[in-house]
This record gives sequence, C-alpha cells and structure tokens, in this order.
Amino acid sequence: MAKRVVLVTGGMGGLGESICTKMADQGYTVVTTYSPSNTKSEEWLKSMAARGYKFSAEPADVADYESCEACVTKVKERVGRIDVLVNNAGITRDMTFKRMTKPDWDAVIRTNLDSAFNMTKHVLDDMVEKGWGRIINVASVNGQKGAFGQTNYSAAKAGLHGFTKALALEVAKKGVTVNTISPGYIGTKMVTAIPQDILDEKIVPQIPLGRLGEPEEVAGLIIYLASNEAAFVTGANISINGGQHMY
Ligand code: CAA
Repeated sequence: MAKRVVLVTGGMGGLGESICTKMADQGYTVVTTYSPSNTKSEEWLKSMAARGYKFSAEPADVADYESCEACVTKVKERVGRIDVLVNNAGITRDMTFKRMTKPDWDAVIRTNLDSAFNMTKHVLDDMVEKGWGRIINVASVNGQKGAFGQTNYSAAKAGLHGFTKALALEVAKKGVTVNTISPGYIGTKMVTAIPQDILDEKIVPQIPLGRLGEPEEVAGLIIYLASNEAAFVTGANISINGGQHMY
C-alpha cells in the first residue's frame, strides 16, 4: 500500500513539530502548513532535514478560506492526496473578558475554529469518495472546562468539538472518522509564555500528575486515531491532560 499522507496545520509549532516527526517515524508522508507570516519556514525545513526528516510545507492562513483552498490544491498536486488531516494550528490572545477587544475575539475564533471548516472543506470529499479518511481536531482542556483569561480560546475549542460531533455523524458510514483531542497544559511555547507565577501557583497544582505534558505524548494519541485500529472511534473527544479535568 502507498504511504498514507498526513496534512498537519501549524506543523512547525510546539505540538505540530512532534506530530510531524512522530508521524514520519510511523511511515507517513508528512506535509505541514505554515503561516504566510512565518519567516523561519525554510530554516525549520532545513533543521528537520538535518534530523533526517524530509517534510514538505505549504503556506496557508488557516483563518482564510481561499488560502486553505489554494494550499490543499498545491498539496494534492505535490503528493496526490490527503488521507489524514490534523487541524492543529491555533493561537492564544489571553486576557480577561473586561480587557478583550473585538479583534482579539475574532482572531482566536477565526484561527482556532473557522480554520477547521476552511481546511476540512477542501479535503473531505476526496476522503468520502475513497471510503477512508481521518479528521483529527486539536482542541483543549480549556474548551472542556473554561479557563481564566480565555473566553475566546475556550469558546473556539469547545466549538471545535461541536463541529467534530456533527461532521462525524454525516460521514460515519463513509469510512471517515472525525475526532477531537483535548490536550491539557503541554510544555510548548504557548504554555511557557504564561507568566511563571501563574503557571506555578494556579495551573501546575491543578494537574494530578504534577507536571506539564510532553508534545510526543499528544502525537502518540494522534497516531492512534489515524490508524486503521481506530476505525470504531468517531465523534469522540479524548482528553490528554494529566488528570487535570475528569468527567
Ligand atoms: N485561576 C484563578 N485566578 C487566576 C488565574 C487562574 N488561572 N489566572 C490569574 N488569576 C488571578 C490572579 O491571581 C490575579 O488575582 P489577584 O488580583 O487576586 O492577585 C488576577 O486573576 C489577575 O491576574 P493577573 O495579574 O495575571 O492579570 P493580568 O490581566 O495581567 O493577566 C491573564 C490575566 C492574561 C489571564 C494571565 O493571568 C494569564 O496569562 N493567565 C493564564 C491563562 C491561561 O491559562 N492560558 C492558557 C494558555 S496555554 C493554552 O491555551 C494551551 C491549552 O490548550 C491548555
């Protein structure tokens, strides 16, 4: 069988890089998107090549429908098809609701939620036609439980799971699964940007495992959901949060 192709949005970021490398280790052909404003994409590709990973990359503003369409068209021209889509790209604009402006709200909703529509729209039909596909949406523990300073982010991440459930119903009989994963606090730049005192005093003490998660642990869950063995898992929201939120 030809190698399966995974398209990872935001694959050059903290979580994304681990998803790309771990999936390549599993034999996938990996394509990542990067933000058109990212000036370090060539550097990243070179550093990956130095580690033995030959990734291809396409620019996409995941908040923009046409940009996603152009990206998917190019990826299909280059590698033929997309078997697994990981909607991973996301941003934070953390601040209390009192301080949050409309642009802060819009940026997070468009990048973290509209993006799932923008990307999935251009890959789903082919998956349905082939009778096999995997859509994996990266949400957050903070979409499940809410978080101080994240009304925008929590709303977008909760919305992602609504998207997952509805779409999972529509394609369940077509061999395509749609799932959400909800990571907790993982040791990436997004989390280490939180003021250290808030992290130490308000967040880590809420994690029964007493530590941040590793990006590789999240990548491992994505690999499972992308596998043939996960065919019976659809419409799920799988928590990976060190016990921070149980329900
Ligand atoms: N829970 C309870 N209280 C909190 C809190 C929390 N998580 N975070 C802050 N507070 C409290 C502070 O202790 C402080 O209380 P006092 O006034 O009594 O001292 C008050 O709220 C104001 O806090 P700040 O002085 O920090 O206020 P600020 O306006 O400078 O900053 C903030 C507010 C931007 C929300 C900042 O507190 C912050 O960055 N918090 C962390 C937000 C967060 O968890 N983001 C997650 C990012 S990682 C991610 O999103 C990945 C993922 O999916 C998990």
